[in-house]
Amino acid sequence: MKQQNNQSSISLGCGLIRLGRVWGVDNKPVPSESDVQAFLEGAFELGIRFFDTAPAYGLSEKRLGAFLKNLTPEQRNKVTVATKFGEHWDDDKQEPFVDHTYEMLAMSFEKSLNELGKIEVLQLHKASTNLLEADEIDQAFSFALKSDVSFLGASISDLDTGLKACSDGRLTYIQLPFNEERMELLPVIDKAKISDKKILFNRPFAMGAVTGQPSMIAAYKRIIDLDCPGIVLTGTASLEHLRQNINNFESATHG
Ligand SMILES: NC(=O)c1ccc[n+]([C@@H]2O[C@H](COP(=O)([O-])OP(=O)(O)OC[C@H]3O[C@@H](n4cnc5c(N)ncnc54)[C@H](OP(=O)(O)O)[C@@H]3O)[C@@H](O)[C@H]2O)c1
Repeated sequence: MKQQNNQSSISLGCGLIRLGRVWGVDNKPVPSESDVQAFLEGAFELGIRFFDTAPAYGLSEKRLGAFLKNLTPEQRNKVTVATKFGEHWDDDKQEPFVDHTYEMLAMSFEKSLNELGKIEVLQLHKASTNLLEADEIDQAFSFALKSDVSFLGASISDLDTGLKACSDGRLTYIQLPFNEERMELLPVIDKAKISDKKILFNRPFAMGAVTGQPSMIAAYKRIIDLDCPGIVLTGTASLEHLRQNINNFESATHG
């Protein structure tokens, strides 16, 4: 799969929320274990090398971890695994909850590390301006860096936090929603470009609201035309859809 475009270094990665919990505008159900493993194997074969998950995505981390354990060390070295801490999963209620205390962050990180084996990118989930200034978060980031996490990031959804994250020297990645209905974070993307940050674009198809090939190509092109280094996280759990998305991403790149 050719992923680089002429303007900047942007590629397609997989966002794995669909693998672990009910998600999307259609409330799509959680796929079976065998379907998930077949999807991840197929995604790797198709050239996907970036996978985004989170403890708050239900079964997602555990399932990704099972797939990663079957890779050879050589294959595993080619993969970037991004996860998060700060939002957690309540198994009984089958819903996420937020807790940014140091104890919860440390516990969450250790559980993720246990599931995934190795974590390249750790993002602060549900980040806010206050959290980016908090000592507890700094301690939690330091704790993670001591355990071989390569890069830190913040998952943001408001302008102030995004702009603050761009000035935060600890962070390499900023994750944010971006689609036709969610363009309010454009100033963050502009600042990221001059701040040497990479953007992880989530919800490119507005959680499934964008349908039909022309609209899907346009959604990718809108992101590619931003000329900002990063990864577009496609949220599919279907290999057939992933193939379409890879082709559409290539069309958007060269169109
Ligand atoms: N940090 C955060 O707060 C946050 C929030 C939201 C998302 N995220 C991350 O960003 C990722 C992407 O967001 P998203 O999952 O909302 O992605 P999305 O691509 O905007 O939407 C995913 C939905 O689109 C459908 N879809 C994808 N390709 C399709 C195709 N070719 N044809 C028909 N339907 C298609 C998927 O269904 P099928 O599975 O049936 O293809 C799924 O229901 C997430 O997985 C997660 O990693 C992070």
